[in-house]
Amino acid sequence: MSQLLLTEKDKRTKYCGEFRESDVGRRVCVMGWVQRQRDLGSLIFIDLRDRTGIVQLAFDETVTPKEVFDLAFTVRAEYVLCAHGTVRIRSSINPNIPTGKVEILVDELKVLSTAQTPPFEIVEDSPVKPELRLKYRYLDLRRPDLQRNIIARSEITYIAREYFMSQGFVDIETPCLIKPTPEGARDYLVPSRVHHGKFYALPQSPQLYKQLLMLSGFDRYFQIARCFRDEDLRADRQPEFTQIDLEMSFVTQNDVIEVVEGFIAELFHKFKGIKISLPLPRMTYAEAMERYGSDKPDLRFGMELTNISDIVAGCGFRVFSEAIKSGGSVRGIVAKGAAEKLSRKEIDSLTEVVKQYKAKGLAWYKNAGGEVSSSYAKFLTEEENAAVARRLGVEEGDVAFIVADSDSVVLPSLGALRCELAKRLGLIRPGDYKLLWVTEFPMFEYSEEDGRYYAKHHPFTMPNPDDIPLLEIDPGKVRSVAYDIVMNGAEIGGGSIRIHSREIQNKVFRALGLTEEEAEEKFGFLLEAFRYGTPPHGGLAFGLDRLVAAMLELDDIRDVIAFPKVQNASELMTGCPSPADEAALAELGIAVTEKK
Ligand code: AMO
Ligand code: AMP
Repeated sequence: MSQLLLTEKDKRTKYCGEFRESDVGRRVCVMGWVQRQRDLGSLIFIDLRDRTGIVQLAFDETVTPKEVFDLAFTVRAEYVLCAHGTVRIRSSINPNIPTGKVEILVDELKVLSTAQTPPFEIVEDSPVKPELRLKYRYLDLRRPDLQRNIIARSEITYIAREYFMSQGFVDIETPCLIKPTPEGARDYLVPSRVHHGKFYALPQSPQLYKQLLMLSGFDRYFQIARCFRDEDLRADRQPEFTQIDLEMSFVTQNDVIEVVEGFIAELFHKFKGIKISLPLPRMTYAEAMERYGSDKPDLRFGMELTNISDIVAGCGFRVFSEAIKSGGSVRGIVAKGAAEKLSRKEIDSLTEVVKQYKAKGLAWYKNAGGEVSSSYAKFLTEEENAAVARRLGVEEGDVAFIVADSDSVVLPSLGALRCELAKRLGLIRPGDYKLLWVTEFPMFEYSEEDGRYYAKHHPFTMPNPDDIPLLEIDPGKVRSVAYDIVMNGAEIGGGSIRIHSREIQNKVFRALGLTEEEAEEKFGFLLEAFRYGTPPHGGLAFGLDRLVAAMLELDDIRDVIAFPKVQNASELMTGCPSPADEAALAELGIAVTEKK
């Protein structure tokens, strides 16, 4: 049993990945996990791994003490070892790892822990089912690629703290058991034991508290804050995620943007050694939608959308002409030089992409070495076809794609198609970072389903002063002083200048269909606070998970979260959520009923 215990003399000299030629001749002590053991008869080699890398341990029957050699023979993958020995030059050099020139000739060995055969091999990028990886996340987290991501996240968080502190921001914690904040998603509710039948909500963001902190005079606040939203999950969404949240007093949009850009520049400089040129480009929401079909355009590639409505308004192809008659549009994008790469089958699968965005079909036109094929050309006159080709800029070797529908379908479906094409055609260069601000978001979004407006950002966002008269007559046209920061097609952060007047706040609540009583019930504390001297204020929150993923050029934020949840919001490792204890439910006065 003594084998399992460390003693005072078992002090690690350094991490496995740190040994170099300059250590040759030193007596050292290392600890770590066994990557693999190779038994060559009179020689045994063990690759020992920790978070810095791998070092080779050598055991030589002719010089290694017999009991040490015999113990090394029994060692298996993922055993935890403590080894003492002398660093020497390896007989066969491994140029693929930094420690590849040296090895440790071991003379003392302890097996600190044995291990069962793991359900998958602990190596980088191994093709393991995601469910299995998440069930054994603690083993998955031993993989060097995931370890690098998690360590990178820690570094980025540190750079953020350092930057905002250096800019005079005060780090303030806000509560997690709160009255609901409306960020647009469903709340996670927490029952109160003391207040029978009453509930807290977990914060969707610290929004209201940070605004109140401005009212209290803290002037510059930041927090690395955990947020909770019960919404449908995707690759860029988790039910709990982290924000770098900030708020500033006495500022305009430009002041917030300037501070945030300073952070971005610092982050790229410190984390990537890259100089980002400031100011970042800005684009209005309207322009982003028109040109890219997205409010988070990926500027690493072109393929902008082109409106051909005027050309096809009176054409014989009803799909096009009818769409325009009903107030919609016909727009297209061109994949340059893609004719050879995009087979019919491939084009059909792209149709499935736009269908996810409610498009009824995808019209296409292909010019492969002068040979034209198309799903719609036969319905158009020669002149119309020529005019469409000219407007879109289709040349030999290109493929054009066209969608006809209402703008609310055409724009997002072509926007998504654009990104999908870029991926399939390999248009994205690794190491290319394209950032921009998207500004002048609409204040409200109309829900056909519910027959009412919702706040596009949140209801505390300042309407564009020019549009305030429209609040009562045409809310759909009101722009807001809201801005998103976008990196490589991901919305990495969003913010706004806030309303700091009771009057405007009430107007916005009315536009959202809240009666005075409802507004009072939900936000009375905020409206009352506004009576006591409120500075103009505004801020922003980065999605830390998305920021880290974007910096590492990863698509899925789960790869930068130590213990993420899966699509249905459960955690496969611990199996939560799980039924609650009967007694606990009784104490809370809660009964679980059949789901309707
Ligand atoms: P918003 O709702 O835009 O604004 O959120 C800010 C940023 O948080 C990230 N984000 C998410 N990341 C992972 N999973 C999610 N489910 C998720 N939801 C949002 C995004 C987003 O840009 N209180 C305001 C900020 C403000 O106005 O200052 C807010 O929360 O990167
Ligand atoms: P059809 O005559 O229905 O076979 O349609 C001819 C072509 O138009 C096919 O390639 C369809 O995918 C395409 N199409 C159908 N509806 C639309 C639409 N709303 N927008 C763009 N193309 C469409």
